[in-house]
Amino acid sequence: MYLGLDLGTSGVKALLIDGDQRPIATAHSSLTVSRPHNGWSEQNPADWIAAAEQAIDELKLSHPAEIAAIKGIGLSGQMHGATLLDRGGNVLRPCILWNDTRSHHQAAALDADPRFREITGNIVFPGFTAPKLAWVRENEPDIFARVAKVLLPKDYLRYWLTGEFISEMSDSAGTSWLDVGNRRWSADLLAATELDESHMPSLVEGTEEAGRLKAELTARWGISGHVVVAGGAGDNAASACGMGTVKPGHAFVSLGTSGVLFAANGAYLPNPASAVHTFCHALPQTWHQMGVILSATDSLNWLSNVTGHTAGDLTSELGDDLRAPTGVTFLPYLSGERTPHNDAIIRGSFTGLAHQSDRPALTQAVVEGVAFAFRDSLEALHAAGTELTRVTAIGGGSRSRYWLKSIATALGVSVDLPSDGDFGAAFGAARLGLIAAEKAEPVAVCAAPETAETIEPDANLASAYADAYSRYRALYPAIRGVSS
Ligand code: XUL
Repeated sequence: MYLGLDLGTSGVKALLIDGDQRPIATAHSSLTVSRPHNGWSEQNPADWIAAAEQAIDELKLSHPAEIAAIKGIGLSGQMHGATLLDRGGNVLRPCILWNDTRSHHQAAALDADPRFREITGNIVFPGFTAPKLAWVRENEPDIFARVAKVLLPKDYLRYWLTGEFISEMSDSAGTSWLDVGNRRWSADLLAATELDESHMPSLVEGTEEAGRLKAELTARWGISGHVVVAGGAGDNAASACGMGTVKPGHAFVSLGTSGVLFAANGAYLPNPASAVHTFCHALPQTWHQMGVILSATDSLNWLSNVTGHTAGDLTSELGDDLRAPTGVTFLPYLSGERTPHNDAIIRGSFTGLAHQSDRPALTQAVVEGVAFAFRDSLEALHAAGTELTRVTAIGGGSRSRYWLKSIATALGVSVDLPSDGDFGAAFGAARLGLIAAEKAEPVAVCAAPETAETIEPDANLASAYADAYSRYRALYPAIRGVSS
């Protein structure tokens, strides 16, 4: 048995698979996000451990024999978060998450130092880890002085599981401290934020062993042998392992809290100017590019909170047939945007409202706004040299048929839906656990699922969508400077 543990923003998911990669059992435990100020987003690392324990305990209750047979664990997690530990391994402050934009001044200052783009291949986005440490140094100097280790969220779970400080390439590529082409920490970039390699975990590939489960936990879960913990991956690279998106030409669109358009690359192909992210993949000698939008399903969740109707109810009001855009446009910049704008200050907007703009019209605009944000990411990937003709859809939002049709039409590409099953980040993490424990061949294990159905762009609405996308594109420069 192999366990995948995915530390998401909205919860921890545990998924058990057997040696044939068949899912055996799954459990989920929810997490909340604290937003004490506009642009802030934090979680308490102790809550991650409590949620992981709860999910694993639930699996142990329903599947004790299978839990006892675990040989490998793979970790996946929300990326970029700064988990700060003191010399004794104690957490110094709540983790500053990937969608926290408080450090935008510090990010711009680091980004102005040409070494960052040169060595990391990426813009220094406010959500990345290095500018968060620069913010802590300026605003919480007492805490900064006590920082002994900086861990990404899933690597803090590893510390709890194994007692070791280890990370892997895919997640570390999102810190702004990694030399992404050469897959090692950059002493120069660490020094630029007054840190050095001693503050960082050691590095392995995602498919390699990165610690073993502590004796007290093997005893607690009734396991007799040793359990290998794999390097694992940031959640997007882990999802790619789950989806078999590991070779050039393979791509997926992820409709989760954030939205990601992800393409695998056989070489390091940076293009920071396009605001594309170029990161190491979880597999050795493999990289990937992605466009990231900060509020994907989160945009619909926001409308759901405002209207008091669930996200599912809102999208089902639209029916299954794609409608022509109504003239109402939504910009999904609820917490700023990464690709293509790199703008932490911008906020969302509705424009074109009329008396007849009812709830479904607003839902439709939100769905289309997210689809157009993906189109922006597609254009950015093109600019970075990656052409896509089809993508596979994953993530909670892909349950909405309407949303998938809207994305296919906005992107002008075919959207494949995998056959029934769970091919997300927890599955990818479990695969990495299997690879590390059995020393299996990574590409062979990370096969793509069967395609159950393909959603084609709606040719009848292509020109209406093109017009709506032009309106969408015109709005950002128009409202920039109005948000504060
Ligand atoms: C990627 C990113 C998000 C988080 C979400 O750069 O910030 O996709 O990983 O969990």
